Amino acid sequence: MARVLIQNGTCVTATDVVQADVLIEGEHIVALGRIDSTQYTDIEHVDATGCYVFPGGIDPHTHLDMPFMGTASSDDFHTGTLAALHGGTTTLIDFAIQTQGESFEETVNAWHAKAKHKAVADYAFHLAVTDLNDYTESELPAIVAQGITSFKVFMAYKGVLMVDDAQLLRLMPRVASLGGMVTAHCENGDMIERFTADLLAQGRTGPDAHPLAHPPLAEAEATGRFLDLASIDRTPAYVVHLSCQAALERLKMAMLRQDPALASYIEAETCIQYLVLNDSLYAERPDAAKWVASPPLRKPEDQAALWEALSQGIIQTVATDHCPFCLDQKAMGDGDFSKIPNGMPGVEHRMELLYSEGVLKKRLTLPQFVRATSTAAAEIFGMAPRKGTLQPGADADIVIFDPNVPHVLSAQLHHHRCDYSAYEGMRMKGKTRTVFLRGRKVIDRGEAFVEPGQGQFIARAGYRQPLRAENTLVNA
Ligand code: URP
Ligand code: ZN
Ligand code: ZN
Repeated sequence: MARVLIQNGTCVTATDVVQADVLIEGEHIVALGRIDSTQYTDIEHVDATGCYVFPGGIDPHTHLDMPFMGTASSDDFHTGTLAALHGGTTTLIDFAIQTQGESFEETVNAWHAKAKHKAVADYAFHLAVTDLNDYTESELPAIVAQGITSFKVFMAYKGVLMVDDAQLLRLMPRVASLGGMVTAHCENGDMIERFTADLLAQGRTGPDAHPLAHPPLAEAEATGRFLDLASIDRTPAYVVHLSCQAALERLKMAMLRQDPALASYIEAETCIQYLVLNDSLYAERPDAAKWVASPPLRKPEDQAALWEALSQGIIQTVATDHCPFCLDQKAMGDGDFSKIPNGMPGVEHRMELLYSEGVLKKRLTLPQFVRATSTAAAEIFGMAPRKGTLQPGADADIVIFDPNVPHVLSAQLHHHRCDYSAYEGMRMKGKTRTVFLRGRKVIDRGEAFVEPGQGQFIARAGYRQPLRAENTLVNA
């Protein structure tokens, strides 16, 4: 069995920062600590002096090869998972999106077919429900039994993906009874439709109108409603891509009213773009379509509130909502902002951005960084302790991260299949050096050693409430 010893690094988990060696045998971590390797004749030594050793990242929100708004996201499961590995993300959870009239089995099979022979990182699926009827409802136990234990609803994208409250109220108790979780894109689709029509009628056709059509009010209303509906059946509820203070207030209100004695759980995710970019990018820029996504980028005061909530453990995870479109696809909305495919690239940069902007700027501790980039997602989405931590028995998904390397993000250098970077020119300190996926060295100093199809589907258990992050700051 192949053995690797990672030596002299600083291992970081969601609770500890320790100098320790990591011994890998085959696909698993078998020991951490001071390890004497003289007993092994056949072992690869990897020196991690001066580096951090993190659990492989988990991005719980991506859209690879997703048909959307008359086109499809430009990264498939090969290019998207390869970009993820370059940035230290070894597992992602993609959304298998049901089209109207399709059975859940057909949806899941379609997503397996997209991923199976292409993925180079591990992956799991959430099932996005757009059409819950007697037949699809009857399929839910079989879907959960396959390890797809989280379901997604869109409260926006009216006429395409949006579900109404009746569908939500039907889905939630079924999912709760199966030990699963419901996740939601929280924006009020009716409000957005009305605001969009008003803006277009006023001649506001450019991308700068997009944030006006998607105000914080639309997100806050839907966030509160989603959590209110979830409370009825005590359905574990996860708010995806929370972007603004107004929605955060609704989240806090719902959390406060929770009775901890009841099995009622609320979790929330934000995305790296909402932490590090703001709505000034829409103003008077001919290329503003690059950042058209829903929810839109918000104001600096929203960013400050998100950072605070993340450090307090009110927001648990940082995802990307990676949904890239090339510039010719973005141009489909020239003359009508509502036709710009919504989404932006980022799966490669989540960890390096969160390290530079979070840890180095003392907004997060190293354990909080690890919790937000992997551990919380593993726990919430039923992959712990196999994924998201460094401990004997866990998959050897490991990132050796050099905190001293400066670099600049650019479309010239990234691995996304996208001809622009949402973060062009941003200066980072700290870079992914070496990545192991289940014990196999897949990235080393910018070079990839991968085979399409090496990524495995991860069948997940049900929901488990994670630890909350500590609100303490330490030196990075
Ligand atoms: O703009 C976005 N976020 N596009 C991807 C689909 C979604 O809403 O998550
Ligand atoms: Zn969404
Ligand atoms: Zn999304």
